[in-house]
Amino acid sequence: MPAKTVNDIVALCKRRGFIFTGSEIYGGLGGAYDYGPYGVELMKNIRNAWWNSMIYSRNDIEGLDAALISNRLMWKYSGHEASFSDPLVECKKCGARMRQDKMRDPTKCDNCGSTEITEPRAYQLMMGLSIGAMADGAINAYLRPETATTTYVNFKNVLDAKPHKLPFGIAQIGKAFRNEISPRGFVFRMREFEQAEMQYFVNPSDDEKYFEMWKATRLAWWIDTLGIPAEKLRFLPHEKLAHYAKAAVDIEYEFPDGFDEVEGVHNRQDFDLGSHTKSQDEFEIHAKVLDNKDSTTKLAYSDPQSGESFIPYVIETAMGVNRAMLAVMIEAYTEEDLGDGKSRIVLKLKPWLSPVKAAVIPLARNVPELLEISNNIENDLRKLGIGRIELENSGNIGKNYRRHDEIGTPVCITVDHQTIEDGTVTLRYRDTMDQVRVPIADVPSKVLEIVKQ
Ligand code: GAP
Repeated sequence: MPAKTVNDIVALCKRRGFIFTGSEIYGGLGGAYDYGPYGVELMKNIRNAWWNSMIYSRNDIEGLDAALISNRLMWKYSGHEASFSDPLVECKKCGARMRQDKMRDPTKCDNCGSTEITEPRAYQLMMGLSIGAMADGAINAYLRPETATTTYVNFKNVLDAKPHKLPFGIAQIGKAFRNEISPRGFVFRMREFEQAEMQYFVNPSDDEKYFEMWKATRLAWWIDTLGIPAEKLRFLPHEKLAHYAKAAVDIEYEFPDGFDEVEGVHNRQDFDLGSHTKSQDEFEIHAKVLDNKDSTTKLAYSDPQSGESFIPYVIETAMGVNRAMLAVMIEAYTEEDLGDGKSRIVLKLKPWLSPVKAAVIPLARNVPELLEISNNIENDLRKLGIGRIELENSGNIGKNYRRHDEIGTPVCITVDHQTIEDGTVTLRYRDTMDQVRVPIADVPSKVLEIVKQ
């Protein structure tokens, strides 16, 4: 079988309803994608696994869901307005615009090969907005380019609501927006994407210890929870650090065209809480003038024992959820030779990740007894609360198996004429294609066993 490519995944995503081009019927929009019926399920399962590992299986991390639009000043004081940019160059011959640090050869145009390239200029990545009835067209808000900053500005809100001793964290999953110069690699680099980020607040003297701890914890999650083979993952320390970082490492996954970033672990020191606190000093001056001191907030931590007040350091873990889904799909995608010139495509997802947990298939269409039994099995499976169950009533069993192989359904339950006689059905397993007959009463427990894997 030929080596799999990202194009195989793109085709499967479109054909089976995982991901569609955004604004497709109007010619599309670069860097924006819509998630279809099975894509939303897979994304939800990945999100839930991350949330479970960050929130439900620990007692030191709180959840947050902050607004996507935020006051311009937040992004001024976070440093993004001045520094969150990419180096943009333009080809003088064909006019192509490119991100200099991602060009195949920085001296040659990626599009036409010309060596006449402009000097790089800083290209602002944030999407500015002018919102409100009084807006005059000037930027007064931004769509957030990361979740992290919207977590820092809530540091005191969360701590006041749920006191914690250091170290503790705040986790967020949500959309982020960047006006990327060249979106590429399907959902790898988009202009609208989703992040799962956790900010862990630590005593400054512990920063290196927790940086190492989170590196190991996150790598283990990719391997043990998502099931990505260890040899397909590696750490890549950043050579050029972002404006906030003391140390940073990428977790990279080996995509079909090479290793690339799927998550970052960053030591952001006290940069963010510190700069939002300093910005509040400026507000204080205004607030005094306005006689409204309450509008100032210091993002510091007071140690309950020593009473000492200081700004904690932050260790951040920052994962791209869309990239995680892409990596999971690439790993699961398998083309199998079945002999006699036949082959099949099967998505060998871990069953708990599968968009559809089980499909119930009456062997023949329009046979009332078969449909009634199938409906009953479907209803019993729904009661398990394990996710999506589908009933197929097209009467074309071969086509049904092919569809469910391609969307990664771990088991199909086939109801046939023998079922009417002896109350047994066939379980057909996705990966092995093995078929076993079991009593209808055993179906829920069998399916439960499978989807827990
Ligand atoms: N808060 C830190 C931060 O945003 P980042 O490395 O810029 O760090 C974190 O982003 C993760 O978000 C990346 O590892 C990547 O998985 C994902 N990501 C970043 N830009 C993206 C884009 N344009 N499209 C899809 N995912 C993106």
